[in-house]
Amino acid sequence: MKTNHFISPKYYIIDNMKALITGISGQDGYFLSRLLFKKGYEIHGVIRRNSSMSNGTLALLPEEIRKNIIIHYGDLTDAGFFAKLLGQEKPEELYHLAAQSFVGYSFQNPASTYDVNISGTLNIVNAVKDYSPSTKMYFAATSEMFGQPENTPQNEETPLKPRSPYAVSKLAGYWTTKTYREAYDLFISNGILFNHESEVRGPEFVTRKISLNVAKIVHGSKEPLELGNLNARKDWGYAKDYVYGMWQMLQQARSDDFILGTGELHTVREFVGEAFKVAGINITWEGRDINEIGKSDDGKIFVRVNKKFFRPLESDNYLADYNKAKRDLKWEPTTKFHDLVRIMVKSDVENSVL
Ligand code: NAP
Ligand code: GDD
Repeated sequence: MKTNHFISPKYYIIDNMKALITGISGQDGYFLSRLLFKKGYEIHGVIRRNSSMSNGTLALLPEEIRKNIIIHYGDLTDAGFFAKLLGQEKPEELYHLAAQSFVGYSFQNPASTYDVNISGTLNIVNAVKDYSPSTKMYFAATSEMFGQPENTPQNEETPLKPRSPYAVSKLAGYWTTKTYREAYDLFISNGILFNHESEVRGPEFVTRKISLNVAKIVHGSKEPLELGNLNARKDWGYAKDYVYGMWQMLQQARSDDFILGTGELHTVREFVGEAFKVAGINITWEGRDINEIGKSDDGKIFVRVNKKFFRPLESDNYLADYNKAKRDLKWEPTTKFHDLVRIMVKSDVENSVL
């Protein structure tokens, strides 16, 4: 363990571990930063420049955490940047969370998704191998790698049959990390994480799209919420639980692969109904397929289906068997579906205005 003296905040003058997070400006980066800060880590984060100088979820962190994060500007596609960074910082732990993570976008932009998610991951494992081989690394794999699974629930042995450019890219990343782990004796653990959501989830993902739109309606909007496949079924958990599992994976004596999920399945339609219920609105459904609508008791149409939100191929029906994580990591999700929806809707109702 390195002895970097972390001067502030005032009650944390301890010898601490150094962690590097790629994707620190995303949802999971937010919760992981909070967790590692509490544990006294020296946190380094990679962000990429954008013209508005907005730093994503970093801006939502409490000031005392944000000011202690050491930021490095760089892009996943820049191999030289990561070689230099790993050589210079040699962190004890590396959480590789950065990715083009939106499945829908990956159908429109497969090449850039492959560049960022496949070449980007290769750049990172090469930098670890060549410049910091004792770093323990976490790779953000995904339940999307299962495609449309025939067997349910899914565990670490379930066949991987990806059905989107995003899922293909993550499968390539997953096999790359496994290959490097064996070939070069590196500590790299893969988290095969099922959908996890929160009040800082990106607004285009379906759960946050729903909670933000319910909040707008609560604040007086007359615009119905437009969605794609209401029948899609996912295993949704709370992101805060999942970053704890990531951290636990790197505290083990040996690297391995773990499923994290809730073992509960819900449709998009159920998520919508639950979200409106939190706002005191009862939704009933009428019509079928593209003509389905969701109405309030006083006859207002609050939900419509729009085919532009359907994907060329759907992948759903995911249900996590997280017994291995439960057994080896003592990990379990603590937030139930109803509580997750409540957290998200309440946060958006409180924080958004029309
Ligand atoms: P997210 O909110 O979309 O965050 C992605 C992060 O990656 C952002 O910080 C983004 O930066 C960064 N990034 C994207 N392209 C980059 C590039 N070229 N160079 C440097 N940084 C780049 O994703 P998340 O929900 O936190 O998920 C974290 C990871 O877990 C992702 O790899 C995702 O694929 C995977 N995963 C997520 C889930 C889930 O349900 N959330 C489930 C399984 C796996 P900007 O802020 O600049 O865009
Ligand atoms: N985004 C979106 N918008 N999805 C919709 C909509 C809509 O209007 N209507 C229905 N859906 C359905 C999608 O077709 C999909 O089946 C489901 O809602 C969830 O979509 P997303 O929230 O976009 O997430 P995802 O499941 O495709 O991907 C997320 O989870 C993966 C883990 O399984 C992302 O976080 C990925 O990065 C992650 O790997």
